[in-house]
Amino acid sequence: MAAYPATRMRRLRQADWTRRMVRETTLTPDDLIWAIVVSESADPRQPVAAMPGADRLSVAETAKAARRARELGIPALALFPHINPAKKDEVGSAGTDPDGLVCQTIKAVKDAAPEVGVMVDVALDPYTTHGHDGVLRDGEILNDDTVARLTDQARAFAEAGADVIAPSDMMDGRIGVLRGMLEDDGFTNTLIMSYAAKYASAFYGPYREAVGSATALQGDKKTYQMDPANIEEALREVELDLEEGADMVMVKPGLAYLDIVHAVKQAFQAPTYAFQVSGEYAMIKAAGANGWIDEDRAILETLMAFRRAGANGVITYFAEHAADMLGA
Ligand code: PBG
Repeated sequence: MAAYPATRMRRLRQADWTRRMVRETTLTPDDLIWAIVVSESADPRQPVAAMPGADRLSVAETAKAARRARELGIPALALFPHINPAKKDEVGSAGTDPDGLVCQTIKAVKDAAPEVGVMVDVALDPYTTHGHDGVLRDGEILNDDTVARLTDQARAFAEAGADVIAPSDMMDGRIGVLRGMLEDDGFTNTLIMSYAAKYASAFYGPYREAVGSATALQGDKKTYQMDPANIEEALREVELDLEEGADMVMVKPGLAYLDIVHAVKQAFQAPTYAFQVSGEYAMIKAAGANGWIDEDRAILETLMAFRRAGANGVITYFAEHAADMLGA
């Protein structure tokens, strides 16, 4: 490269048109997956204190959101349930109920906007009295017993019409078992997006309020979710999940883990997603509400950062607003 003044880097930044010409990364509504917490309540929208603007939606309101996603060009929704605490038990029975909240919502969304993909979280934490993602016995989360329950849950979701099964539990071997079940039961087109590198993170706090597992949770999730210090372990997790039959892999949380997103994309060249989780949402909203940052710019800048790091897309509670700003 020629030295200054033959090279003046600012020449390319002088106008909007030059900046657009040399832009290396794109962000469009195609890159967004809209995270929505669904509730059993008939109230169309119920506010979540720690997530202003990301209300829990009723089933009917979620169906409307699906039509809105179609209009905005958002390819898919990711659904998370808030169920009545009275329905929780030790093993998360409500999570495998074929008539349960998630199954009803999948059907309502596919009726309202069949062109929009529906992704569902596979894990037991919204349904267990102890708030863990799996079956708890004598203080231990039992891996294989949990995988068996998750298989029933995923089957119910696939039967209800889910397009993407997204196991967020971090049990070992679950992707292989789920893929085997989907093949055996005739769901050969059902996709799996694995929460492959999911860290034991402080950034899930607001979500646990949103799905009502915060007060329930006993202890922490460090025996199944990953240590934030590790990167090699993330690559091993992703490799296993791809070998076991994941179509897409996810890194979670997002912004604090962009190095992981980048490393995963470089190592495997597989469809790779980042989850901009509830705590990341809450931080941007809180700073925005105080006038400390320009909220809209921060939203678009963080989403672009995920793309620049190598993510094919981002699961985000900001999807509707971001797509609106991007002007589908
Ligand atoms: C649980 C699950 C969590 C999230 C998605 N699925 C929380 C957890 O592992 O405790 C977090 C989502 C968010 O924070 O936005 N299986």
